[in-house]
Amino acid sequence: MIVGIPKEIKNNESRVGMTPAGVFELVKNNHKVYVQSDAGEGSGFYNQDYQKAGAVILDTIGQVYAISEMIVKVKEPIEEEYNLIQKGQIVFTYFHFASSEALTKAMIKQKGICIAYETVEDEEGTLPLLTPMSEVAGRMAIQQGARYLEKPVKGRGVLLGGVPGVAPGRVLVLGAGVVGIQAAKMAAGLGAHVTVLDINMKRLRYVNDVMPPHVVTEFSNEFNIRKHIKNHDLIIGGVLLKGAKAPNLITRDMLKEMRPGTVIVDVAVDQGGCVETTRPTTHEDPIYIIDDVVHYSVANMPGAVPCTSTIALTNVTLPYALKLANLGWEAACEKDASLKKGLNIVEGEIVYQEIKEAFGWEEAIV
Ligand SMILES: NC(=O)c1ccc[n+]([C@@H]2O[C@H](COP(=O)([O-])OP(=O)(O)OC[C@H]3O[C@@H](n4cnc5c(N)ncnc54)[C@H](O)[C@@H]3O)[C@@H](O)[C@H]2O)c1
Repeated sequence: MIVGIPKEIKNNESRVGMTPAGVFELVKNNHKVYVQSDAGEGSGFYNQDYQKAGAVILDTIGQVYAISEMIVKVKEPIEEEYNLIQKGQIVFTYFHFASSEALTKAMIKQKGICIAYETVEDEEGTLPLLTPMSEVAGRMAIQQGARYLEKPVKGRGVLLGGVPGVAPGRVLVLGAGVVGIQAAKMAAGLGAHVTVLDINMKRLRYVNDVMPPHVVTEFSNEFNIRKHIKNHDLIIGGVLLKGAKAPNLITRDMLKEMRPGTVIVDVAVDQGGCVETTRPTTHEDPIYIIDDVVHYSVANMPGAVPCTSTIALTNVTLPYALKLANLGWEAACEKDASLKKGLNIVEGEIVYQEIKEAFGWEEAIV
């Protein structure tokens, strides 16, 4: 198969759909790979790295789309890319169709084969192509939280690890899923006192089993949340209700109960956030302050660490990309039920029911 790796053109996106290691695997399997010039630069991969792995470098995005049977990328296509997609061309990337009617209509019109990373689902119901980005965001939440706890950037002025003779900072983690566990682990590693809340006892038992004794678990309810926000320095929002808006576990009135300079990193911002006062921010302007509480709520946290995120993402996408290239999309989806769940739009037809539901469409627009 002819596989194309375009450069991401969405604002501030430095990740790339495939590393030179991925190119090497595809070429080893007798596929031809075309990479747009400088596509991997933002993630620390240069044209010569791709060439050494067996890729051919093309100058423009138009050339990459025109020659490829399958495009592997990171973000959903933006308007400038819509018309580049051809009938029957496989596009393997994050799409998040339910959040954009314009994108959905454009992909129906272009008649490509849209396979969305975010809906590939394994037998346990987990989303293997989303997990690595939650891992990155969870770990990064502590890094960012620690920074914004510093006084010059309006935080309380607390060092999370403390020092000999001074108690460590306190971190409250809401949700013991992928984000929550990674955040708890990083905070514990810095020496902070960590409290993890969840409503799922299995998750709390797991955290209790694997974490050191300065990570404590409690059941998540309003009473416990109100108790803990008064004396924790950093609060991490890592709650998810699948397919729904995150619940507002921290309401506006609760901000007044927190000490000035408390920092909230609401990682769940992409699902509306688990704090009533959360609104999406960007890496250029990541924080705002309400009632002396610092809010950090960047919606694409992994985008700030593309060298790590690109490798984490492509580690999990490559086996599927390889399967698609080796077998073609129909046979690959027939053989692999997880990959089949990734099929969203096939040659103009919506095959993922939730997209139609999101827009109230009974039938796909063909
Ligand atoms: N901002 C970013 O850049 C970024 C990056 C990656 C993921 N995310 C988001 O982070 C959120 C968490 O993702 P995840 O992969 O950790 O999800 P996950 O499903 O692994 O974990 C969510 C956890 O929340 C728990 N939960 C549900 N209701 C709760 C409640 N009332 N109190 C406490 N816990 C509760 C669940 O039991 C589960 O353990 C998602 O919204 C995800 O989209 C954001």
